[in-house]
Amino acid sequence: MSQELRDLLSNNRRWAAATEAREPGFFTRLAQQQSPRYMWIGCADSRVPANEITGLDPGEVFVHRNVANVVVHSDLNALSTIQFAVEHLKVRHIMVVGHYGCAGVRAAMRGIRVGLADNWLRHVQDVRLRHRKRLEHLPPAEQEDVLCEMNVIEQVGNVALSTVLQDAWARGQPVAVHGWVYGLRDGLLKDLDVTMDRPETVVDRFAAALKRYPRADAAGGRDAEVLDAADTGFGPGAP
Ligand code: CO
Repeated sequence: MSQELRDLLSNNRRWAAATEAREPGFFTRLAQQQSPRYMWIGCADSRVPANEITGLDPGEVFVHRNVANVVVHSDLNALSTIQFAVEHLKVRHIMVVGHYGCAGVRAAMRGIRVGLADNWLRHVQDVRLRHRKRLEHLPPAEQEDVLCEMNVIEQVGNVALSTVLQDAWARGQPVAVHGWVYGLRDGLLKDLDVTMDRPETVVDRFAAALKRYPRADAAGGRDAEVLDAADTGFGPGAP
């Protein structure tokens, strides 16, 4: 085995010993059961580790990560993870966490080809196209930051519309979906104020979050884009 991998294993032994010394019984207790209150859906980016950023120990946050923190309606990987978190672990909060400087979002914004992931990032390009009137009048750097935020808002909506969340809310189970974005430059998380905690509010929360990004022709009256979102069936409670 190479030295760099041996270093990782010795780091691990030191960490396990220090953890057990600080909190005797830590591992035997965790080995019996996990009961996290939180689920984190984030980008695979190595600079955005869920536990460290939020100061949580092993056992405290259930994590699903992929390129550009996308939740696709038919992605059995994400849906199975969300279902396990909600129905078995009974997490109280699910946070979709994007980050500024996301290479996946940048590729989608600029139409850069990266390979197989282009097909995955097509979902982020869909977000870009859907909200292009709120994006195109901004300077390029700002466009990317705003698309990072809009992508989170869209994915919060996708989680909320999944059968898992709809069924949980129908049962009266308390579970909320939040949208956050992380700054690589300052290490800070920002709440995008798009929390959805029951089906009746999904459309309103979604529309209100997007309206914070003005369109170039915002004076034009009817907000066709957001109305379209509701008209095309965004949310079973859509008016
Ligand atoms: Co990323």
